[in-house]
Amino acid sequence: MKLLVCNDYDEMSKKAAALIAAQVKLFPESILGLATGSTPIGTYDELIRLYNAGEIDFSEIETVNLDEYVGLGPDHEQSYRHFMNKQLFNHVNIDPEMTHVPNGLAANPEEEAENYEMMVECLGGIDLQVLGLGPNGHIGFNEPDSFFTPATHVVNLSKETIDANSRFFASRAEVPHQAITLGVKQIMQAGKIILLVNGEKKARALKAAVTGPVTPDLPASILQLHPDCTVFADEAACEWIYDD
Ligand code: GLP
Repeated sequence: MKLLVCNDYDEMSKKAAALIAAQVKLFPESILGLATGSTPIGTYDELIRLYNAGEIDFSEIETVNLDEYVGLGPDHEQSYRHFMNKQLFNHVNIDPEMTHVPNGLAANPEEEAENYEMMVECLGGIDLQVLGLGPNGHIGFNEPDSFFTPATHVVNLSKETIDANSRFFASRAEVPHQAITLGVKQIMQAGKIILLVNGEKKARALKAAVTGPVTPDLPASILQLHPDCTVFADEAACEWIYDD
């Protein structure tokens, strides 16, 4: 695991986007694993800028998103499908049919999770996975637990995650209590992983993920075992490095 301390959010976003752009240029048929949340927005903005500058081409890229809220469809502003369309897909030349997000409106979410897992398997897995970090150390929606869940699954969101994500909804009561998320298997089998972390609110989780034991209690800690994982973090998330 490599930790790259960036001066600020802007530098973090540009450096991460440069690595993704290199992947897209060198391997134009890559399968990109994508994340939502506020953290990757700057990275997606930079990818859009590079696309508009004629530097990258998404025409043969296929994407697999990490997760989706159960109960939210593409028309819901807080669904992750809506987020991806708005923050990236609508602004580049990616084929919408080549973008995959779990269906939050599936009648049977467990079956949707199984089908999603099979779909990723059939694509041959993920070449480059982008991740954010939950304040409780979650990746995708793999929440702290007493064991790691390998496959795509339906998860009950923790109180901490519901609290953290309530800022995007009109009220806490509107935050869905369940989500479909890729499990740690597809994430860990990705060829490359980029973990994006900014802000002091993430400092505790980042320190534990990077320096603590590998434990399902802090799901991101499993990334220590990945052979090609780069953490792009801003200074605020890394203040613990300079302690004592
Ligand atoms: C959500 C997503 C995660 C994301 C996390 C952090 O819970 N499921 O994939 O990493 O939020 O969000 P933010 O970047 O807004 O802090």
